[in-house]
Amino acid sequence: MKKVLTVLLAAVMSVSLFAGCSNSGEGGQGSASTPGSDSPVANQEQGKQLKIGIVQYMDHPSLNTIRESLVAELATLGYKDKENVAIDYKNSQGDQVNLNSICQKFVSDKKDLIIAIATPAAQAAASATSDIPVLFSAVTDPVAAKLVADLNKPGRNVSGTSDAIPVDKIFDLALKLTPNVKKIGLLYSTSEANSLSVISDAKKVAKEKNLEVVETGITNVGELQQAAQSLISKTDAIFTPIDNQVASAMSTLSKVGIDAKKPVYVGADSMVSDGGFATVGINYTELGKKTAEMAKEIFEGKTVADMPVQTLSDFGTVINETTASKIGVTVPEDILSGAQIVK
Ligand code: TRP
Repeated sequence: MKKVLTVLLAAVMSVSLFAGCSNSGEGGQGSASTPGSDSPVANQEQGKQLKIGIVQYMDHPSLNTIRESLVAELATLGYKDKENVAIDYKNSQGDQVNLNSICQKFVSDKKDLIIAIATPAAQAAASATSDIPVLFSAVTDPVAAKLVADLNKPGRNVSGTSDAIPVDKIFDLALKLTPNVKKIGLLYSTSEANSLSVISDAKKVAKEKNLEVVETGITNVGELQQAAQSLISKTDAIFTPIDNQVASAMSTLSKVGIDAKKPVYVGADSMVSDGGFATVGINYTELGKKTAEMAKEIFEGKTVADMPVQTLSDFGTVINETTASKIGVTVPEDILSGAQIVK
């Protein structure tokens, strides 16, 4: 009798152990589920909460804006956190090792969707899985970052939204605001595909406009201050793209420009808020909304490989008034009236 009880107890325990394992979705060593049977659509049909992993590269205003906007829009579209979806948000604080382990954990957790904010996060997510849908946001050049084969036909489990910027429009603005600029310094991180692509565009645009360029690539943010000081001493202005490292130390770069009384043109609105002089950029709240709309389509069964990368075509001028006055530039009325002014 005693023996029978023990066997029964052991059987019950092992059953509940397995049940616990699959419910928590932690995907322990032994859990073998058939791939394909746990697609987002199948999980919704079974009334399960959809598991969304959000991985953000660093804590930065533009990137935070995207995340907040996309989570809010998901709720508007009917995907509410802690109700029918479970959102697991992780920030790698700019650390590559961290980034990889966050993405690997999302894969072993069997998330239904991974949303990756900024290029390095998207690259880490894309290399962590070839079957969980990966939706990126704010990736400047998804082709150069090797995330998609073609903007219109990504071809694998990765698509998303791009914050591609109109470099020619930024240079046009620069020449209107500071027509004395003849030589422009290009400052960027050599490890960021998003920056390299914009810098190559910037060189072409500069040539068309008869501007001379001086390039300085940095390998880590610790080099920024010296690199910027040296660059600005040789040029009339600096242009920096939507570079994660540079943006993380934007106040340092802004100060270099202000001390030299020369303009620093940038790639994103938040970099103007952080003291950069001006940009022509996109609206990151809108980009977050678009990303949420794509998530909804994936939940409704669309194949990621066939979903074109989305971009925004509305660009706005953003100018920092405080920086303008500190570097002694008067912004012409016609530009001022159409611009977003930050202080
Ligand atoms: N576009 C950047 C990338 O591809 C990410 C990004 C968006 C960003 N907005 C920004 C970086 C503002 C710094 C500042 O990685």
